[in-house]
Amino acid sequence: MKKLKLVALGCGARTRTYVSLARQHLPDHFDVVAAADPRPERVRQVRACAHDPKGFLSFGDYRDLLAREKLGEIAIIGTQDADHLEPALAAMEKGYDLLLEKPVATTAQDVLTVAAAARRLGRRVMVCHVLRFAPLYQAVKAVVESGELGEIRTVNATEGVGPWHFAHSYVRGHWNDSNRASPLILAKSCHDLDILSWLMGDECVSVSSVGDLSHFRSANFPAGAPGRCTDGCPHAATCHYNAEHYLDRERRWLSLVWSGDTDVATAGEEEIRRWLALSPWGRCAYQCDNNQPDHQTAQFQFARGQTATFTVTAFASGRTLEIYGTRGMLRAGTNVEVVDHATGRSRVIQTASDAVTAEGYDEHGGGDFGLVSNLYDQMTGADPGAMTTGIDRAVPSHLMAFAAEESRTSGQTVLMSQFFIGTIPSTTAPSSDPV
Ligand SMILES: NC(=O)c1ccc[n+]([C@@H]2O[C@H](COP(=O)([O-])OP(=O)(O)OC[C@H]3O[C@@H](n4cnc5c(N)ncnc54)[C@H](O)[C@@H]3O)[C@@H](O)[C@H]2O)c1
Repeated sequence: MKKLKLVALGCGARTRTYVSLARQHLPDHFDVVAAADPRPERVRQVRACAHDPKGFLSFGDYRDLLAREKLGEIAIIGTQDADHLEPALAAMEKGYDLLLEKPVATTAQDVLTVAAAARRLGRRVMVCHVLRFAPLYQAVKAVVESGELGEIRTVNATEGVGPWHFAHSYVRGHWNDSNRASPLILAKSCHDLDILSWLMGDECVSVSSVGDLSHFRSANFPAGAPGRCTDGCPHAATCHYNAEHYLDRERRWLSLVWSGDTDVATAGEEEIRRWLALSPWGRCAYQCDNNQPDHQTAQFQFARGQTATFTVTAFASGRTLEIYGTRGMLRAGTNVEVVDHATGRSRVIQTASDAVTAEGYDEHGGGDFGLVSNLYDQMTGADPGAMTTGIDRAVPSHLMAFAAEESRTSGQTVLMSQFFIGTIPSTTAPSSDPV
């Protein structure tokens, strides 16, 4: 077996997860040989996963890495949402296949540009829609494919981001500005819309959506709260979002964003307090520069009249799914329950794994591991068109997200065939997703 060489463009939390899973579980399949990130400590963490740390090449910017001769087969694009397009195109031009973080890009035009470049250059692009590889969704897909539910008429899905996770990422953190990053329903939920599109196996024709930012606003800030939790907030003992919880209950979130001088694992209380006093994650959750909705619901109609609803909310944790078919129904949360309409009998498919915590987010229910385990076959299989999360399969979910955001902000139902006129040439409009 030929080992595939990986290069990492951006060494944030996601890239480090993938390279460390590859190192731990698939050392005969992959070797990471180079990485770029302006933060040297992050490059060092990726280097620690290399088989040959001495030969490993380190860069401060992905442009410098791409200026070198081609160093491997697969480039991991792990930069932030708004910085996927440029490295993705440049790496494909250089000859790399891509493991591309979602969202593919932050506008429909750019998503389609990446898809078109992959086709033109003959590159494989595996989008990190990790949920498709999670045991729970694999089990759901198998039931749908078996025909046991009959024809699918309705799907209801929810995604509870989790109150603390939402405050960390969408109020204080990287994704708190939909213009700088991307809208919540794209940034957080293109995964979930991808699952809807995958299960329906059909084209989405119209979308309407409502939702807003109701809680994490200055109107709700508790009287007397200072701008930073570290400045002696009178509500410290009762506020769920007190940033001082990064010191104890919520410490695991620190490692995703920590930029202190010492290793986050060994950083002491005083150092963390000093960091919180300056970093965005020390701010009062009611006094930030955030604009993402903290709850949003969208409804989708598909080509044969099937309907789906999707709710993303800060105020729940984990995902749920209901599928209503002409012969039976399915409920999925931790496990999968299938009920037959005619007999009323139900059966449960156990899919819970140790990777799934109470919040249901750790390693995306086994999806991160599933993605890395499938990476080799996806990149070397005979038919690039059969890639489970290939770029062409990722396009429909992204267009559904852009349409949902347009509907939420305009108050209008969006007809897909009209909304994307001028963006999608009619001959390349993505349609169903049979796999
Ligand atoms: N697939 C999933 O389930 C999932 C989950 C969370 C996040 N994401 C997505 O993954 C992406 C990365 O997220 P993250 O949490 O790892 O973010 P992160 O901010 O931790 O990592 C991004 C990294 O890019 C680096 N960077 C910035 N400019 C660079 C440059 N010019 N050259 C090289 N590196 C540069 C930053 O220093 C940072 O280390 C985002 O698009 C995010 O939306 C996907």
